[in-house]
Amino acid sequence: MTPGETVEPLISAEQIETRLQGLADEIIRDYGEKPIILLCALTGGVIFLADLSRKLGNNTTIDFVRASSYGDGTVSNGKVRLDCHPKLDLASKDVLVVEDIIDTGHTLAYLKKYLEDMNVASVRVCALLDKPSRREVPEAQADYLGFSIPDEFVVGYGLDYAQRYRNLPYVGILKL
Ligand code: IMP
Ligand code: MG
Repeated sequence: MTPGETVEPLISAEQIETRLQGLADEIIRDYGEKPIILLCALTGGVIFLADLSRKLGNNTTIDFVRASSYGDGTVSNGKVRLDCHPKLDLASKDVLVVEDIIDTGHTLAYLKKYLEDMNVASVRVCALLDKPSRREVPEAQADYLGFSIPDEFVVGYGLDYAQRYRNLPYVGILKL
């Protein structure tokens, strides 16, 4: 850990594990035997995807997308672009976006529009975390949500600060 930075535990590895089983049960209940494409939003969603996908049945396939905000500042400002596109043909497929966190909602709104323009059969969103108090795009919501959290900058379990801390098995609040 960089001197001066600490991570205060917020959601333990055990809590994540328990909640993921709940999410997997909800997803299996809703989709049944229908094939699902799990579309992981890189990079933050990768650990969540790895654990969640192993709790789902054998009717899932995995693909990746990377959306980046551009423009000034460190928070997303609605100017989103994709710098890694899915490999699979998503037309007429049931797509479940696997995201680390919904903050302002701009990234998710952009992704959903992108997928709808590809004529997917359906698009739903599974997010590990949500910071509802920061939402700027009200319609950007998770269909399956792990945890709702307060307005704090969090790291771990895929989420980074300057590309670090993704490896932590828990989610914690970064104190600078
Ligand atoms: P949005 O477009 O503002 O919803 O931004 C969502 C993206 O911002 C997420 O996919 C994360 O990559 C990043 N982000 C938002 N809040 C946090 C946080 O607390 N920690 C780490 N990354 C975050
Ligand atoms: Mg992300």
